[in-house]
Amino acid sequence: MKILVTGGCGFIGSHTCCELLEHNYEVVIIDNLSHSQEDVVDKIKTITNKNLKFYKGDLRDKELVDKIFRQENIDAVIHLASLKVVSESVKKPILYYQNNIESTLTLLEIMTKYKCKKLIFSSSATIYGNPEKLPIKENFSLHATNPYSSTKLYIEGILKDLYNSDNEWAIAVLRFFNPIGSHKSYLIGENPQDIPDNLMSYIVGVATGKLDLLNVFGDDYNTKDGTGVRDYIHVVDLAVGHLKAIELINQTSGIDFYNLGTGNEYSVLEIINAFEKVNNVKIKYIMTARRPGDIEAFYADCTHAKEKLNFEATKGLEEMVRDSYEYAKRNS
Ligand code: UFG
Repeated sequence: MKILVTGGCGFIGSHTCCELLEHNYEVVIIDNLSHSQEDVVDKIKTITNKNLKFYKGDLRDKELVDKIFRQENIDAVIHLASLKVVSESVKKPILYYQNNIESTLTLLEIMTKYKCKKLIFSSSATIYGNPEKLPIKENFSLHATNPYSSTKLYIEGILKDLYNSDNEWAIAVLRFFNPIGSHKSYLIGENPQDIPDNLMSYIVGVATGKLDLLNVFGDDYNTKDGTGVRDYIHVVDLAVGHLKAIELINQTSGIDFYNLGTGNEYSVLEIINAFEKVNNVKIKYIMTARRPGDIEAFYADCTHAKEKLNFEATKGLEEMVRDSYEYAKRNS
């Protein structure tokens, strides 16, 4: 089976490509390298000892996408390409709508043209907004709180409409919680640009001396220690989740939505403490005000993914914080 991975050079994409190749899928990547580097392609080949095809370009380039489908005989698509920085999306909403939605529409148009109707779409747990209760189930109400999550929510709607118009489609929408960690080879991992936005990138920045200190955004939440609570999942587990989803959409048509998390809840302080203990390094931090728009706590109910995808995360916090640091040490 030949899989097109959009955004395949990115953090989640590169790990997903490794899983696919290791399970004997053929892989074609399209990536515009706006937030990733081309050498990731060689790194994936080194890790897996397998070959893959890489197209540098933007998904909004209809001619290019058409050419890929014409040349490659694609069986299914894993659509990960997306801008994803919440704060940037608030400042540049048009950029986010154009980039994330236009690219998806082009992709779906060309997939339809070539009768390729198997799709995995990477959505985000952020579309649950401030959840009414915890843990979060897939049938909870959805509520975008920023332009980035709006793009994910709109695309989920587009995919529902698409399936309603043609029941031959097989679509799995994966709602990611907070991916951290890296591949055990430490060749691929997360490469945030400039000042990182997310917690783990910031922590490794401080640990490797690139950043002075971490701001902990708020210690007055109604959580175990007052700091924000999230469901962190190892990126390799997330990649395995994609593999399970491919297996499912191969067997049956339909559209369904899955939380990909661990179901475990960790506060910011718990993450810092685990990072310090496992990696034997001190993280300098100060408590600051809440970050505007932040949600107090969210973590997944993973029952649906377990029952329907046969997916369960296996990697714990120790492995996550160790792998995040080991990758950063070798690549900063
Ligand atoms: N945090 C800090 N200091 C920082 C960065 C984050 O204290 O420098 C705290 C936040 O306040 C929050 C927790 O760490 O309590 C996690 O924050 P992240 O920014 O790492 O992650 P979010 O859950 O806020 O959002 C992330 C991505 C979204 C994605 C979502 C769910 O930014 O794009 O996870 O997958 F949708």
